Amino acid sequence: MVYNYGMIDYKKMINLALACMQHSYSPYSHFKVGACILTKSGNYYVGTNIENASYGASICAERSAIACAVSQGETEFMAIAIVSSSGDFTPPCGICRQVLSEFKDMEIVLAKDEKSFKVYSLKNLLPNNFDAGDMR
Ligand code: THU
Repeated sequence: MVYNYGMIDYKKMINLALACMQHSYSPYSHFKVGACILTKSGNYYVGTNIENASYGASICAERSAIACAVSQGETEFMAIAIVSSSGDFTPPCGICRQVLSEFKDMEIVLAKDEKSFKVYSLKNLLPNNFDAGDMR
């Protein structure tokens, strides 16, 4: 399902994600990813993928962005935009979907550039997620 709300400055989010993607530290995959998360308070935080020689220690762009936002005390989000060096739409990996789902539903914006993007909801990309309510 793809939908659009009209309140969010998708163009700004995508351009911030594209700028951040240039800082990708990805000497192993050579695959650059950039993300920009918009908070309900109206702030933007960016993140890129940071790889490691111990591959499993790498972090995705989406989790970099959320770590940046939470580190500034922000935990309420409207949307996250994701771009990559593939030039195509790049869906968030399963771990990132789970991490994002900790913070209620938000829009997931997959973009090639500021003019070409698709908007999904996190709930739609990760139905029936595990959360705090499941620990009883
Ligand atoms: N990557 C992301 O940053 N986000 C995703 O959603 C998919 C994968 C990164 C991790 C790794 O640095 C590279 O892309 C190849 O998997």
